[in-house]
Parts: sequence; structure tokens; C-alpha cells
Amino acid sequence: MNVLIIGSGGREHAIAWKLSQSEYCDKIFVAPGNAGTAQYGTTAAVDVHNFDELAKFATDFNIMMIVVGPENTLVEGIHDYFQGSEYLKHILVIGPKKAGAMLEGSKDFCKAFFQRYNIPTAAYQTFTEDTFAQATAYLRSHTFPAVLKADGLAAGKGVIIAQDYDEAVDALEDMLRNKRFGAASSKVVIEEYLEGIEASVFILTDGKDYVLLPEAKDYKRIGEGDTGLNTGGMGAVSPVPFVDDVFMQKVKERVIEPTIRGMQEDKLEYTGFLFIGLMNVKGEPYVIEYNVRLGDPETEAILPRIKSDLFELFRALHDHKLSEFKLEIDPRTATTVFLVSGGYPEGFEKGKEISGLENVPSDVLVFHAGTKRVNGKLVNNGGRVITVTALGDTMEEALEKANAAAAAITWQDRYYRHDIGFDLRGTLA
Ligand code: AMP
Ligand code: GLY
Repeated sequence: MNVLIIGSGGREHAIAWKLSQSEYCDKIFVAPGNAGTAQYGTTAAVDVHNFDELAKFATDFNIMMIVVGPENTLVEGIHDYFQGSEYLKHILVIGPKKAGAMLEGSKDFCKAFFQRYNIPTAAYQTFTEDTFAQATAYLRSHTFPAVLKADGLAAGKGVIIAQDYDEAVDALEDMLRNKRFGAASSKVVIEEYLEGIEASVFILTDGKDYVLLPEAKDYKRIGEGDTGLNTGGMGAVSPVPFVDDVFMQKVKERVIEPTIRGMQEDKLEYTGFLFIGLMNVKGEPYVIEYNVRLGDPETEAILPRIKSDLFELFRALHDHKLSEFKLEIDPRTATTVFLVSGGYPEGFEKGKEISGLENVPSDVLVFHAGTKRVNGKLVNNGGRVITVTALGDTMEEALEKANAAAAAITWQDRYYRHDIGFDLRGTLA
């Protein structure tokens, strides 16, 4: 079977790597891909936002499965488009339809879903420009810090943690009146700040049954010790020591099961990954957000721990056989370190030659994100550039290997965090 993967990050490179190991997977195509995905698949010259073009590509190249990496293609309705056509509906799309994708596409929709199904989350209210005065009144009686979130997709930048009333009103003004995130901030969710430690739980679901994937913790801040600006993610660790059986049981009962019930009641036909962003507040799970896809760089830490055939897992999803699927998981710890361009998440220079990949030990996995080849040379082509993932019997062992591999890969001004997993060291069993 030929497969098309949509996306261009480390996540998609990791998916291509994993699928390439399946005997059922013939040709892999990646659109738009990067210099690394070319190792396992053919780069498809197709505009992923133009579904007519995608459909023609899928027909021409006999694609039987489309794995969607990023959320925007799902929110744009790729699954509905393929399902809606007589000629395309045999193609298995991994990712929810538009209605289900709204769990990520609209924070207000998602919060209302949590409320409707009694899923633990921060208390909130949603406001628009027309209800600006009510929003400021709400903030007057709010505790601080308070969290303000642009309703729509804002490439991970739409969350502001305001320390006091004035800062919150400024942020509100900026989002609602100055349209800081365009249409994405025409609604703003104001919510309670949750104090705790974050972890991400992932499931694959057909809206009826689900398979629990390995969990992960990612490191969003640019600076060591979790300081500085937010990024797409600077590294990840899987498993997460505090996500033990007791905690996971609570997540299953209070979060996953009511979510699946809610998907059925709301008729959100859902066939794909669900990324559950959690805050562990004194041992109790609260949902911070849902993403309707896998995370990046979490995927680079999770997939190397999955021993089962990913293609077979996707087949089980579409055949409604997830309840019979026994996922085999490597008990070792995977740690991922993201090498980024100097200056990221603000301005940075592209086109610098990357060297040292040949010095990375063969048991360390290298996944590309913002890379491309220019005249045969590998250069940086984005903020987040390359990830390295190492496995070890302990987190320390895995980190030592991943950090050594990160040190071996260089280009002008490249940066990475040396302290991934720093906050988990004390909680190791
Ligand atoms: P989100 O885009 O919803 O994942 O939010 C980005 C980040 O903001 C999260 O990963 C958290 O670190 C933080 N955050 C979001 N909501 C809250 C909250 N209610 N309390 C504390 N931190 C939050
Ligand atoms: N690493 C966070 C995300 O993929 O959204």
C-alpha cells in the first residue's frame, strides 16, 4: 500500500521512519517534507492546502492511506473532503473530520465540550469584542495569574499568562480589539491558572475504542530551567515517571472515557490521534488542551518506544478493531533533544551548512525538521531544525546519549537545551 504523510517536521520524519519498517507499506510520499523525510519517502510536490490537487496526487500515485501530521489540514477538512467523494473514500485518512478537529481549532468549543462531559479543566469564560466590558469585570474578580487564550489556531502562540489585572486587560485589548491573532482572537477564553507539572497523554481512537500510546513530557521554553520564550518544543521525555498507574487510571476514568462518550453523543466522527495536554495538580489530572494530532517533538520520543507495526495499528483503527490491538511498548526511556537555529523563536538566519551528522552513533535516531538540501549541502531552513532521540534503561543514560549526539551536530549559531528532563530527575523510581 502506498502512503502519503502530510507535514514537514520531525514528527512527520519519525512517522515516515516508523511506517517504512512495515511490510505492508510500499511507497511513502511526504508533502511537503524536508531533507530528512527524503530518506524514507519521496517528496511530493503538491500544495497540501489544495484538496483538489491532493486528490489528483492520491489518485495518480495510488495512495491508500493519508497520515495527517499538522492540525491545520485537519481543521480545513481534509478528511471530510476525501470521505465525501465516491472516488476517494476508500483512502484511509488518519485524523479526525472537521467537526472533531474543532477540539483543537476552537478553545471555546473544546472548553464547552469539557464542561458538557464533566472533564476536569480550569474554570473559564469566553468573551468577544462585544462583551469586552464583561471581560474586564470578570477579570476584576479573577485570581492572578490568569490565562488568556485566543480561541482559534495561533501556531502555539495564542496563550498569554497575565500576572495582574493591567497586564490581562492589555492582552485582552490586543487580542479582541487589535486582532493580534487575526480571526483566531475574535474570541478569547479567560481561565484559571493551574499550578502543577505538565504531561501529555496520547490515544488513537475511532471514537468508540482507543489504544493508549506512551505518554511524554515536552519542554516548551527556549531557555534552560524552563525560562524565556515559548517555542514549539525543545525536547521530550517518555515515559514520564509521575504518570504512574494510579495517575493514568484517573486520566482514563475522568478524561479519556468521558471524551469518547462525548464524541459519540456529539457525533464527532473521530478517527485519529488525540493529544491530551494535562496538568498534574497535586496528583489530580486537569486537561489544559486537546490537540487532534500527535505532538512535535513528543512523536520523536514516543514512536521509537512503540514496537508494534504502526501501519497495522492504522488498519485496526479503520477496521474498528482497536479493542483487539495489543500495543507493544519498549519499557526503556526515550529522550529527544531539539537542535534549533540561534535566535529562535524570534529571528534567525537560514541557509547555514549543517555538519557532524556522520558522528552521531548509529543507535541514536536523527529526525529532521527545518532542513533542506541546497546543491547537495544540508542547511537549516527553519527555527527548529533537527531532533536526536536516544533510548536508555534509565533517563540519565538516554539523556547522556542524546546530549552527546546533539553536541556532535553543528552549524553556525545552533542552540539546544542541555537540561531536557531536568525536572524529572528527582522523581525517577
Ligand atoms: P496551550 O496552547 O493551551 O497548550 O497552552 C500553552 C501553554 O500554556 C501550556 O502548555 C501551559 O504551559 C500553559 N497553560 C495553558 N493553560 C494553562 C492554565 N490554565 N494554567 C497554567 N498554565 C497553562
Ligand atoms: N509539542 C507541542 C505540540 O506539538 O503542540
